[in-house]
Amino acid sequence: MSNTITKIASLVVMIVSFIAYVAKAPAFPIASENLLPWSTWFFISTIANIILWQRVMKLLAFALLVIWFYAFAASIVPETSTARVILDDIPRTEEAFVEAGEAIFNGKGKCNTCHTLDPSAPKGRCPDLSDIGVLAGTRQPGVSTKDYLIESTYEPHKFLVPGYGNIMPPVWKPPISLTELEIETVIAFLQFQGGEVDLTKFEPPVDIGSAITEVEVLPPLLLGDVERGKRVFVDGAKCIACHAVAGIEQPAGQTLDDGVEVVAAPDLTDIASLNSMRYIEESIVKPNALIVSGYGSVTVKTNGASIQGTLTFQDEEKITVRVKDAGGIETEQTLLLSELDPEPIEELTNLKDQGYFWIEVNTADTGTKVRGDLADEDAENVIISVDGETQTISKSNVQVQATIIDFDGNEIVGELVSENEDEVTLMVDGEEQVIDTFDIDEGPIYGRALGKRLSVTSPMPDNFPLLLSVADMSDLLAYLASLTGATEETVAEAGASAAEAEDAAE
Ligand code: HEC
Ligand code: HEC
Repeated sequence: MSNTITKIASLVVMIVSFIAYVAKAPAFPIASENLLPWSTWFFISTIANIILWQRVMKLLAFALLVIWFYAFAASIVPETSTARVILDDIPRTEEAFVEAGEAIFNGKGKCNTCHTLDPSAPKGRCPDLSDIGVLAGTRQPGVSTKDYLIESTYEPHKFLVPGYGNIMPPVWKPPISLTELEIETVIAFLQFQGGEVDLTKFEPPVDIGSAITEVEVLPPLLLGDVERGKRVFVDGAKCIACHAVAGIEQPAGQTLDDGVEVVAAPDLTDIASLNSMRYIEESIVKPNALIVSGYGSVTVKTNGASIQGTLTFQDEEKITVRVKDAGGIETEQTLLLSELDPEPIEELTNLKDQGYFWIEVNTADTGTKVRGDLADEDAENVIISVDGETQTISKSNVQVQATIIDFDGNEIVGELVSENEDEVTLMVDGEEQVIDTFDIDEGPIYGRALGKRLSVTSPMPDNFPLLLSVADMSDLLAYLASLTGATEETVAEAGASAAEAEDAAE
């Protein structure tokens, strides 16, 4: 009787696991994290069936085993390539976890490429972790040692140790790709550094399985070929024409395609030590998203003349523009923002995004002119600050303005009164002015208002994503990720100057 039950049970297991294996069902958790693949269940149960049954059933089980063998042989690469296997039957003891965690800290986790475990080690660009088992509990009020360590490994960007940049990769993401269990052992190892090891199971803050599919659609950061990436940087995309990197000779007089001008650009020697890869990638894909201060291009008009150059300084009252003359000689010009010429604004939308800081409108109902600093804007209104007081003006109550430029280069701005073949009449500061069409060089240009703006753009070309192949781009990013040239002195200096900047700001 019991023999029959065993036979039937093993038959059921065999059939279920065969179907599950073919259908690629997720593994069945027998212990909380011990996942035994369906192929293993199937293999064991088939052997049992071959032993237990006779004749027909024996043959059937054997035939299935052969089929399985071929299917398994074909899929053997993904089945066996996960490093997780090593940890699968690790006993849940402090000793085993700490030992495994140490191996991962120095191995697959690559933690030791950034972190030291030696209190006397010189302060580098990543914190020393020799006391982390105690220190972790003091980092954030109300956050326990273990919770802090969970956050540090899964979501390192959430809390940055003061003085350090956001460069630690979430260790569950490629290329490090630690599993939940591996992270658990590393946490045990970290707790062991001066603290008590707590092996209680916890719910990871990130569901690695589903998060990883999102990650995979990003370019495979850091997975590229660093040496090839360097060639893309120097010869392919010629980034080196503008950006210096210590140790690479910057070719003099290099020319770029399509008349792109070589300009001064930030030194990238240690770009990866203080910036996240996401920022670096965005700098290339969307150079205008965040412009490093002191490097943006700007065009402004003052007294009818246009000045184009690099915006090297800016505060509430003035700007400094570095201008290159025809002979290549550079000079700096400081301009008061109030000296900039107002330009006609065609549409009263997204004014701030377009760089407007001053605006003049004429209200349609009372005909009053309102001019001042652009304080705010929403879909219906513009809010103008006039001598410290704000005025809210409905966009629908703004009169259209016309601008005419005559052949002497004079700009006449007013509301349009009338217009015919021979003349245009504008209301300028309360007086009608008639302009002969023969005198008009340009215009009338209609606008809803006048504004002064500073529009700053990046001089870095924005077409690299089109020019570079996906492989070039990922190799280039891998190369940039290797640019962590910060020596101890430069880190100390950066820290000191950041502290100075903070002091100065106070
Ligand atoms: C690319 C360098 C880098 C790698 C690789 C790296 N870290 Fe970090 N880690 C940092 C930096 C920088 C900080 C400080 C900024 C922050 O809090 O994120 C940090 C902070 C930490 C902290 C908080 C330290 C404190 O004093 O509060 C812990 C814990 C930590 N890392 C653990 C790990 C573990 C475990 C690994 C490997 C699985 C690892 N790190 C891999 C750079 C790295
Ligand atoms: C025509 C000159 C020029 C070329 C060519 C150029 N850049 Fe830039 N790049 C700049 C300037 C100017 C800035 C600073 C303004 C800004 O933030 O956009 C900058 C900013 C950056 C930044 C952000 C730097 C920081 O300190 O935050 C990165 C990263 C960068 N470039 C990478 C590249 C890479 C990679 C290439 C080649 C694919 C490249 N650049 C080609 C001019 C250039």
